[in-house]
Amino acid sequence: MQEELQQLRTQFERELAQIASLQELEQFRQRHLVRRGTLGQLRERFRQLPAEQKPIVGRLLHELEQFVQQRYQALQRSLQERAEEQLRFDLWLPGRRSFLGGRHPIQQVLDEIVAIFTRLGFQVAEGPDIEDDEHNFTALNFPPEHPARDMQDTFFLTPDRQWLLRTHTSPVQIRLMRALRPPIRAIVPGRVYRNEEITPRSLAEFHQVEGLVVDRSVSFTELKGVLVAFAQAFYGPGTEYRFRPSFFPFTEPSAEMDIRCFLCQGTGCRVCKGNGWLEICGCGMVHPAVLRNGGIDPEEFLGYAFGMGIERIALLRLGLDDIRLLYQNDLRILRQCR
Ligand code: DAH
Repeated sequence: MQEELQQLRTQFERELAQIASLQELEQFRQRHLVRRGTLGQLRERFRQLPAEQKPIVGRLLHELEQFVQQRYQALQRSLQERAEEQLRFDLWLPGRRSFLGGRHPIQQVLDEIVAIFTRLGFQVAEGPDIEDDEHNFTALNFPPEHPARDMQDTFFLTPDRQWLLRTHTSPVQIRLMRALRPPIRAIVPGRVYRNEEITPRSLAEFHQVEGLVVDRSVSFTELKGVLVAFAQAFYGPGTEYRFRPSFFPFTEPSAEMDIRCFLCQGTGCRVCKGNGWLEICGCGMVHPAVLRNGGIDPEEFLGYAFGMGIERIALLRLGLDDIRLLYQNDLRILRQCR
């Protein structure tokens, strides 16, 4: 039995040296270290040895067991470490994708509109979000009882209703006329505020682009030409359009411009609410009273102006039908935008 123990030691050593995985190590344990395994059987035979052989064989058996246990545990530790390491540096794992940021759809539409009007010779101007009654209403020829002056529609900042959040970008017309001498040819992108319920079709805070031209000989024809050039550049050449008479206190005559619904080409759909046309902006010749309020002599100069909402254009672009989606920062929406 002594000799057998010697041989087993070399055999274990050889087997352990060949083990390369935790799975193989487990097979080794099942073969030799469990109760019915090689060592268990040896212990059984040891018990039946004559008493005088027990001290020597006992010591050898004990040494063999210690040896195998130690090697087994050391190997287990190093194999486990290696397995963890492989998890940490798994070169076969697919990479984590990172996404580039992009411009918000509202900003994209604004940038594009600004680029088109810049090519048409317009300069870009801005005005304050906080306005007074004078710029937002009075100088723009709003009568005192106009509904926009009601609490229902406007966010007033002071109890006397002298300060407010601008309800449109038109007050910048007054600022431009008072600050510049004609010829004036400017567009004004900006944020506007209205006391509206937040619904799929309306927000309390949104964007507009205003346009203003003041010069000696401008005409309604030129206004139409500029807006048609814009529509062809923005919505594509050959875009069908129409002008409808309308009313705004600060323009006379006033009109609204529609383009053919690009979704249904005029046959009627959800986007154009069945009538085949999409309203894209309000416009008109600047009212003589407004020119005067801007410090410009209406006998000497004429002006035209236009204003358009940006959110609606962005929605149509993205094929969305709920304006609130533009402000929820949902990456599924934002990633479609570039
Ligand atoms: N300010 C108008 C609005 O908010 C839009 C508008 C209409 C602007 C006609 C204009 C214009 O400059 O001429 O509804």
